[in-house]
Amino acid sequence: MSYLDELFALHGKVVLLTGAAGGIGRALAEGLASAGARMVLADLDLAAVQKLADELPGDDHVPVALDVSKTGLLERTIDDVLAQTGRIDVLVNCAGINKREGLLDVSEETYDRIMAVNLKGVFFLTQTVVKKTLMRTGGRIINIGSYNCTSMLGGVSVYGASKSGVAALTRSMAIEWGKFNITANCIAPGHILTPLTVPTWEHPQRSAYLRERITLGRPGNPDELIGLTLLLASDASGYMTGQLYNVDGGALAGGQPWPYDTAY
Ligand SMILES: NC(=O)c1ccc[n+]([C@@H]2O[C@H](COP(=O)([O-])OP(=O)(O)OC[C@H]3O[C@@H](n4cnc5c(N)ncnc54)[C@H](O)[C@@H]3O)[C@@H](O)[C@H]2O)c1
Repeated sequence: MSYLDELFALHGKVVLLTGAAGGIGRALAEGLASAGARMVLADLDLAAVQKLADELPGDDHVPVALDVSKTGLLERTIDDVLAQTGRIDVLVNCAGINKREGLLDVSEETYDRIMAVNLKGVFFLTQTVVKKTLMRTGGRIINIGSYNCTSMLGGVSVYGASKSGVAALTRSMAIEWGKFNITANCIAPGHILTPLTVPTWEHPQRSAYLRERITLGRPGNPDELIGLTLLLASDASGYMTGQLYNVDGGALAGGQPWPYDTAY
């Protein structure tokens, strides 16, 4: 085995990935499977993850219909997964939704829906996976947060609160489950080009606003999240836990809005 394989390869590991049919989920599935993982591809869209399972490198990937917000069904789903794979080594919580609305317009229904998927779903799916297996075997939890874990934008109050909750929850998972040899980390993508964000990037003013504030001047590609995900899923990250890692093209570093022709 090569030195890089020893550090980063995932041969023999089972990775459960939620939101696997989405823009970021699909890229992570490809990266993790290319590193040797057997993927459990979970999403609302079963047909899409069935197709993805056939397309990924390696074989024996498992497509699963899962709604993370239906907490009453989580136990049975994880039992079914374990009956097929015998183990789960890594859980990647990637399923997420958003609805852009002003604080004054958000209905209770919208609030509940976003929280149910982005925060409550992460909480109870992870609790179920830990109880059913990880607390006995150890393993890795990777939560997909957001730029809005740290910095907000107008119109994303509920989403930002849910993702900030995910960052806090990640720290709790790390603290309480370190004794089980479980690490928990949160990856916070910045502005990534996926089907979810195409309308924003196609809009002239919105796209210009973002480009000006992103140090690298462009949206990220979903596959630019693979490197950190592999690191956090693999043996290379054994002493990394409880952290929030931003992958944002430098967006949180600050902006460069005008030429240097004034003292301030
Ligand atoms: N695209 C970005 O710029 C960006 C930035 C920061 C964070 N994120 C986060 O990354 C993750 C993936 O985003 P994306 O851009 O790939 O979005 P996407 O809409 O392309 O994918 C989301 C996937 O989650 C699935 N999903 C939705 N609700 C679900 C549920 N209840 N149960 C199971 N699956 C469900 C959808 O079917 C979809 O396949 C999300 O958590 C999102 O908040 C995205």
